[in-house]
This record gives sequence, C-alpha cells and structure tokens, in this order.
Amino acid sequence: MKDPRISKIIDPTCETDNVKTFEEVPGLRVLPIIGTTWGFFPHIGDGIPISRMLELQKLRFKQFGYIWRDIVPGRPPIVYTADPEDVEKLFKTEGKHPVRPGMETIKAYRAQRIQDFSSAGILLSSGEEWWNTRSKAQHTFLKPKNVTHYITELSEIADDFVNRIRLIRPENNEMTPDFLNEMYRWALETVGVVGLNTRLGCLQQDLAPDSEAQKMIDAANFSFSAINELEHKFPFWKFFVTPMLRKLYDAQDFFTETTIKYINQTVEALKGSSFDSYLSIIEQLLVNGMDPSDVTTMVIDMLMAGVDTSANTSAFLIYYLAKNPDKQEKLREEIFSVIGPKGSPITSNALNNLPYLKACIKESFRLMPAANANARITDKDLVLSGYSIPKGSLVVALHQLMSHLDENFPDAQKFIPERWIKGDAQESKTHHPYVVMPFGSGTRMCIGRKLAELEIDQLIIKLLQNFKIEYHHEDMSCFMRVTNMPDQPLLFKFIDL
Ligand code: HEM
Repeated sequence: MKDPRISKIIDPTCETDNVKTFEEVPGLRVLPIIGTTWGFFPHIGDGIPISRMLELQKLRFKQFGYIWRDIVPGRPPIVYTADPEDVEKLFKTEGKHPVRPGMETIKAYRAQRIQDFSSAGILLSSGEEWWNTRSKAQHTFLKPKNVTHYITELSEIADDFVNRIRLIRPENNEMTPDFLNEMYRWALETVGVVGLNTRLGCLQQDLAPDSEAQKMIDAANFSFSAINELEHKFPFWKFFVTPMLRKLYDAQDFFTETTIKYINQTVEALKGSSFDSYLSIIEQLLVNGMDPSDVTTMVIDMLMAGVDTSANTSAFLIYYLAKNPDKQEKLREEIFSVIGPKGSPITSNALNNLPYLKACIKESFRLMPAANANARITDKDLVLSGYSIPKGSLVVALHQLMSHLDENFPDAQKFIPERWIKGDAQESKTHHPYVVMPFGSGTRMCIGRKLAELEIDQLIIKLLQNFKIEYHHEDMSCFMRVTNMPDQPLLFKFIDL
C-alpha cells in the first residue's frame, strides 16, 4: 500500500486552522542579549559541549519533543525538527535556490581575498550566484562516464592504502591511535586526483611535516576544528580578528595557493592538448568555459566538503564491519563472488552488482552520517508540527536523531544492513524516506556523491579482500567537528586473510 505520508500533497499555505504561533514553539528560556546560548555555558547550561551534538539533541528531544527552537544573537531564529513529515515539507517546498547556512567564517575569508575569489563558491553562495556555478558543474560531476573514468586511479589509491596499512601496522596487527589521520590521507589523495588532477603523495612512506601533502592535511584538520569552534559559540570573530580566525585564514591561504598552482598547471597543459584523450572533470569544466578562478573555488570546496566526509564515513563503516563479524563475512563473500580475490580488476559493472555492500554503506550512514543534520533558511512561511515558522528561519532537519529512534527503525541502535535489502525478512518497509538522507536533498544535494560512493566502495572492497578486520575497544560514537567524527581512536586490527 502506498504510504499516505509520502503521497500527501503539500501546500504550506492551506494550513491555517489551529496553527500555534512561533512564540509557542518549545525551547530554552530566551534571556536578554544572549538568547538561548546560555544552554552551552558551563555551570548554568546542560554541561554538554557543542561537539556532542547528537547527545544534546537527544536531551532536547526528551525535554521538548519533536520540535524546539533556539534564539542566538545575530542569527535568524533556529528551529529543530525530528518529525519526518516536517522534513519532507521543508525540502519539498524549497524554492529554486535553496539556502544552506554555515561556514560564515569561510565566506568572510573569501570576501576579504577578493583577488582570488570572484564568488563565495558552490558550497557557500546562495541565489543566482550559487546556481550560476552549480548549473555549470553538476552535469559534469554526476555524469556516470565521468565518474567511472576514475575507477583505475581510485583503485590504485585504495591499493596504496592497503600497502600502507601493511607498512605501518604494528606486530600485533592493531593500528595506532592516529589511524584516523591515515584515513584523511587516503581521502585527500582521492580528492586530489579528481580536483587537482595530481597525485599529492599523501600515502607515501615518510611524509615530512613540512611536505605539501602533510600541510594540506593539517590545513584541512585545523580548518574544521576552527570553523566548529568559531561558528557555534558567541561570534566574537565578527567583531575583531581572534587568534583562531587568523590561523584559520592562514590555513585557507595555504589551500588557496596550492589549488591555484595546480589549476594553473592544468590550464597550461590544456593549451598544448589536442583533446584526443578523455578529459578529467576539472579539464572539462575549464574547456567548457568555466573561469579558472571559479574552478579554483570549486576545487577548494571539494577539499572542504570531500575529505572529512569520506574519511569519517569510511571509518564508521569499518568500525561497524569490525564489530559485526557475521556481516563482514557476508560482505566478503559477496565481494569474492562478484569481483574475486585481491588483485582482481574492479569494473563499473561489478560495482553495480554489490547490493550487500550498498546496504552496509547505507546502514552505516543511518547510524553515523557524516552530516548530523541538514538545514535550510526558509524562503516562505511554513507550518511545521502545527507551529507557524516565519520565512527566513533556519530550520534544522535532525536526520541522525530521527534515524536513532526505534519508531523509525526497530532496534534502531543495531547495525542491520538487511534493512536495505529488498525482499529480506528484515527489510524496512515502513520507514519514512526523509529520515535517512546522507547526501542531502533536492537541487543542493551533494555534487560529489557519486565520486564519494566510488571511492568508498573501492576502499571497502580492497580492505575486505586483504584483511579480516577486528575492533576490541570502547564502543564508538561520534562527536561533531562540522562533520561527525569517531569519538574513539580507530584501533582496528587488520589481520591478513
Ligand atoms: C561520504 C562522503 C560525502 C557525504 C556524506 C557528503 C554529504 C553532503 C551533504 C549532506 C551535503 C549538503 C547537501 C544539501 O544541502 O542538501 C553536501 C554538499 C556538497 N558536497 Fe558532499 N558529501 C560527501 C562527499 C563529497 C565529495 C567527495 C565532494 C567533492 C568531490 C563533495 C562536494 C560537495 C559540494 C561541492 C557540496 C555543495 C553542493 C551545493 O551546495 O550545491 N562531497 N555533501
């Protein structure tokens, strides 16, 4: 039977009966000047740091129910919803140019470096400016042929990662606590191939601390920590240049200089090209007339959006496979039967025939998505959970919280990939389609999703072809640093098969 919630026609304007006012939306007490930010203060607040976002949302859900609001000085009213129907309405009624908030610090940086940035870029801009870049880029990024073009290079990077694990693995097969940094190296190397048209060498044996690759990794890591700190607390940085803002700008300067260097190299190489070989994504953007400075911004956005996300997503998935040896074995059987043992070539056809791998990735996304939530600044008045939400509010769709509720997924805390397998006894038939949306929704959906899926598929395939993976330490949860990160060291054991 068709789910009536999905087929419901949504008309935000026709709901006027019994609608409660915005002021009635539950939430913390609003104090003069500081609004509800006192909730984060030590002693008088809840004592949950901003990095423990999921924990904080679970607490607010207990306190206030499916919808609540925050008032933060200098920002639009913030409304959080854990009701899938609200989320469906939010995304289905969004206009032509959806506005996603966040990374104000990077917007400010780009506005200052006007000589290098002609726009805020696809990740950060809004309105016509955003669509101008997005419309030029999305076809190129999402065309299947352009993505499968990278199979060989991404497969080589995954092989290099496997070799590196063998190289740095201690005698007891258990990785050291900084293994997450290794995952960032893999993800950066991957984005580098696509965005910078080069192998940065992040997986090389002895990476000097002042090497370009290590400095890129450090710049990415620092940027995410700083953005999180600066943008979730009282915005002192808007009034004066704080030491952290200065260091963030330095890290971004390094990204910018390095990216400009590689884009210039690509532009030069294209000048002598007869275009008889297949062009990479970046080459196509340049050849199709995108201004090199817009391509540079696009590539920096890829570095900002595509490194932490892919690394953390893969880290969580490896964790769930390590904790669920039966699922790991089932996945390995699928990989061996469709692709074969290590060394077998991976084809796009084979990648399309791995339903259990897709199910494992989806289930890991459900439990530990890279993005804890997604958000929009609304361009019209909406009624959410029976409350009137004025145009211009920041509405946060709490995907991870919803995914953790038993009412949406029975035994929600358990890793059960079979939920996503059609015809399986454990298939989840009743969940609302707007609960799990790891790559977002609508026209602003992740532009790198196909590349991300390709790189994660290949990494997991290679790891399972080579190793039995175990984990024998504290259960893992997440903390937030723009994206969700593992809150425990990745002490995985990689045991040769
Ligand atoms: C597992 C990996 C990834 C996850 C989970 C992820 C997730 C997301 C999400 C949730 C959004 C916001 C979508 C929305 O507002 O509805 C987004 C946007 C974006 N992502 Fe990804 N992403 C991943 C990897 C990548 C990669 C590898 C790239 C680049 C190669 C990339 C580039 C972008 C860009 C440029 C945007 C902004 C799109 C726009 O505003 O038009 N992402 N991503």
